[in-house]
Amino acid sequence: MRRTKIVDLLSGSQIGQDVVVKGWVRTRRNSKQVYFVALNDGSSIKNIQIVVDADKFDDDTLRRITTGACLSVVGLLVESQGGGQSVEVQAKEIEILGDSDNTYPLQKKGHSWEFLRDVAHLRPRTNTFGAVFRIRHQMAYAIHTFFHQKGFFYFHTPLITASDCEGAGQMFQVTTKNLYNLEKDDNGQIKYDDDFFGKQASLTVSGQLEGELGATGLGAIYTFGPTFRAENSNTPRHLAEFWMIEPEVCFYDKQDLMDLEEEFIKFCVQWALDNCKDDLEFLNNMIDKGLIERLQSVVGTEFMRLPYTEGIKILEEAIKGGHKFEFPVYWGCDLASEHERYLVEHHFKKPVILTDYPKEIKAFYMKMNEDNKTVQGTDVLFPQIGEIIGGSVREENYDKLMARITELNIPMKDMWWYLDTRKYGSCPHAGFGLGFERLLLFVTGMQNIRDVIPFPRTPGHADF
Ligand code: 4AD
Ligand code: MG
Repeated sequence: MRRTKIVDLLSGSQIGQDVVVKGWVRTRRNSKQVYFVALNDGSSIKNIQIVVDADKFDDDTLRRITTGACLSVVGLLVESQGGGQSVEVQAKEIEILGDSDNTYPLQKKGHSWEFLRDVAHLRPRTNTFGAVFRIRHQMAYAIHTFFHQKGFFYFHTPLITASDCEGAGQMFQVTTKNLYNLEKDDNGQIKYDDDFFGKQASLTVSGQLEGELGATGLGAIYTFGPTFRAENSNTPRHLAEFWMIEPEVCFYDKQDLMDLEEEFIKFCVQWALDNCKDDLEFLNNMIDKGLIERLQSVVGTEFMRLPYTEGIKILEEAIKGGHKFEFPVYWGCDLASEHERYLVEHHFKKPVILTDYPKEIKAFYMKMNEDNKTVQGTDVLFPQIGEIIGGSVREENYDKLMARITELNIPMKDMWWYLDTRKYGSCPHAGFGLGFERLLLFVTGMQNIRDVIPFPRTPGHADF
């Protein structure tokens, strides 16, 4: 007989038939001569109840039905006698596929998040992480669906690169050099010409620059892959390895870009509401009572669109009115998460697309406004999260782009291929980057970014 997944058993269509179910024991309780075993196979947040008549099984089998053990059960699927579940399996045969003894770390409920990170190899077997990782899958599928339906092409950009897209110098180096015996030139500089790539190479912080190359041929592309940042930020919103989605579109202006950002996020959130109902209800009950309401409100609301300069005025007013921020506010400052959240959560009470930032706090590739002071950035700020999307119209004018590159001392010889797009048939274009884990923080209501990726990489942590 073939195994049926628990999610399919729960639909009840096989009632009255013998079924095979396989999964891990979540809990076991005994009443008189009957054992009630909650079995889960990951196909759903819901368990199936296995009813075990102790008279029908030998003591060894009964003893081995412990929390965490893996079982294969043959039995009759019937409508449940007790409350709490619709169907149950009356066991006829039980095979213990894998024993689990009382050292199994997930014995009781209510483990701390820190403890569960220490057992990240087992936490997919908990209700919460099962829900989070099923939603993570659904969101990835939603993202591909959204762009595919809009005619964007999935474009694979390299993970190993020799250019620092964001110019922030927070890259992990990639080398095959013998670190115990590093050769240096006369100026004391490390020689890279004999390294694997013949030059200094790193893990990418963004696929954007290569994404632009794709877009200026294919018209509209998106990337979806891991990115790496060696920033020493120990916050609940930063990872050293995170996944980013980066669409890049030709002939888009700032308005088009903001429309795409808003439509994209709403599509993803609506997808979660439509396709992750059981998991969201679980998270809503257990983690964050306002979760589903917050998701619905984002889908139903028009995002606020506001120039940076206006945002600063609002924050300055707030300070005059007695509001205290940890970090100073002035025109030209890089907004801290507390400032972003003030605008979103206190002032507008909805997502905000903040635009036209001072050029000094943004990357070299952003299109300069007429004022020569601000650039056409379009970041999306979200409740609970702060910045969820960073985007911009790109500077398509060769001379203006060169001026910025020179001003910022970006090594020219690394950028020749990027400049070529502005030399041959340059075109207006725009794009953005969405942090996948930041979207997941919002959609799941989880509080720490380490808990929405299976195996987080943060300063000091690369286990599993
Ligand atoms: O704002 P960022 O740095 O923008 C870029 O990388 C552009 N090249 C994107 C583009 O225009 N194609 O990063 C984009 C997003 C942020 O808004 C944030 O959601 C996420 O990536 N992000 C991080 N997520 C987790 N951990 C980190 N350390 C992150 N750094 C950025
Ligand atoms: Mg940013």
